[in-house]
Amino acid sequence: MFNNFKKIVILCLRLIIFCFGLGIIFNQISLLINVFKEANHSFSIHLYSHKNKDCVVPTWNRVTSKDVPYSEDFKKWAAVRIGAFRHIKDAQVRLLSSFVYSDQISIVTTSQNIDNKKVTCRYYDCNRDEVPYSSFDTVVVPMTVITCPRRYGAEFVSVTFDENETPHEPIPLTFRIYDEPIHELSVCVGPLYGKKSKWLEIVEYVEHYKLVGVSYFYFTLFSINEYDRTVVDYYAKFGYAEYTTYITEYQELGWMFHLIQTQDCHHRSRHHSKWVINVDIDERIIYTGSNDILYFLRSMPASIGELSITANRILTTGTIPEKLKNFANLQSELTFLKYNKTTEVSWYNFKGIIRPDLVYVLFYHWSFRQKPNVHVISIPKQIIHLRHYRSVDQNSLNGNWMEFYNGSLKETRLAPDFEQQLIKNVKEKVKYVYDQRWV
Ligand SMILES: *[C@@H]1O[C@H](CO)[C@@H](O)[C@H](O)[C@H]1NC(C)=O
Ligand SMILES: *[C@@H]1O[C@H](CO)[C@@H](O)[C@H](O)[C@H]1NC(C)=O
Repeated sequence: MFNNFKKIVILCLRLIIFCFGLGIIFNQISLLINVFKEANHSFSIHLYSHKNKDCVVPTWNRVTSKDVPYSEDFKKWAAVRIGAFRHIKDAQVRLLSSFVYSDQISIVTTSQNIDNKKVTCRYYDCNRDEVPYSSFDTVVVPMTVITCPRRYGAEFVSVTFDENETPHEPIPLTFRIYDEPIHELSVCVGPLYGKKSKWLEIVEYVEHYKLVGVSYFYFTLFSINEYDRTVVDYYAKFGYAEYTTYITEYQELGWMFHLIQTQDCHHRSRHHSKWVINVDIDERIIYTGSNDILYFLRSMPASIGELSITANRILTTGTIPEKLKNFANLQSELTFLKYNKTTEVSWYNFKGIIRPDLVYVLFYHWSFRQKPNVHVISIPKQIIHLRHYRSVDQNSLNGNWMEFYNGSLKETRLAPDFEQQLIKNVKEKVKYVYDQRWV
């Protein structure tokens, strides 16, 4: 009895060892096959480079679509040049950014003279190999943006304007497929350029909007010095901001490139932020309605794509110091305390708070075309207006604006409790980022 049991156990053990060995052999063979396969692959495609990895396509990227939403409307608008304004006509077409949404891909370029041109979308997998039979012919619209359908596994995109052109090195897709926008209210900050110091202006700006209820900032850096850049990096590092930089063939970018920032920020914020305030670095929103601005925005019907906002101007004369010299004197340098001569509120140069997913063509700070049945409304100045700290320096853009102003000037300031909190927050940030010492 016992002997029989022992025999059975030994038999079983032998069987297990045999199967195990067989498994190892199979495994080795399949590994070898894979190595051969990949070696072939990498030699045929990348003569001088490394072995290509297998692309793992995440669930969100297993989508191929036939066309883009409202493509016929877009083509009609392109034909009559809606929202397109031609500038810097010999500029190269460079890839600036690209975004993947659930229903389309948008590629933003740096050229302002390609609207309505024929163009082909090109798609690349995780190894930057072109996805076979994936290209799509369309036209450039709006202005400098190329909108393409989705492709299974596409991680990078590029474009070509004619058949014989070698596609430009592809650019990675920025993920914008969210069930709900990450941010309820953000700011598209107008481009930063020119030689004037900006560090303190940036801190005052961000802290002001954060107090109003903004949670995110999209910066565009045309040019900025290292000192000023530090505070943008601070906000980016702590999750309050992201920024786009441009690599063009021009040494300097000025206001003539603003419309590219408009397109980039519109697409960057789309499905990432529900509402976006589209303003420049010298403009601050003032909410004087009941409760707060988020409460006000939540009360808007779902069919509202843009709120138009009036502005007044506060004369500014001096410049910001180049660096923080003495922290104790900081308060005397703050623009929002220093200047208070204010024009009347008017619709001249109004700005917009937009729903990037509901408006389709933007022109500078407001929208030109909206999704069907979406409306733009004007907000009374009693509820929201902008304070525009406007320089009267002859060297700044439209620095002579006072010559055309007929109205009266009044002394105005921020609400005292808001002002106190803002002073405190600005000081805190400036201390953290700029109050430095030697080791
Ligand atoms: C300024 O006043 C002049 C005459 O007093 C008038 O013709 C002009 O339209 C006004 N300009 C503005 C911007 O109101
Ligand atoms: C405006 O600024 C001037 C000069 O700094 C100051 O004397 C005046 O009190 C300020 N007005 C208000 C309303 O704060």
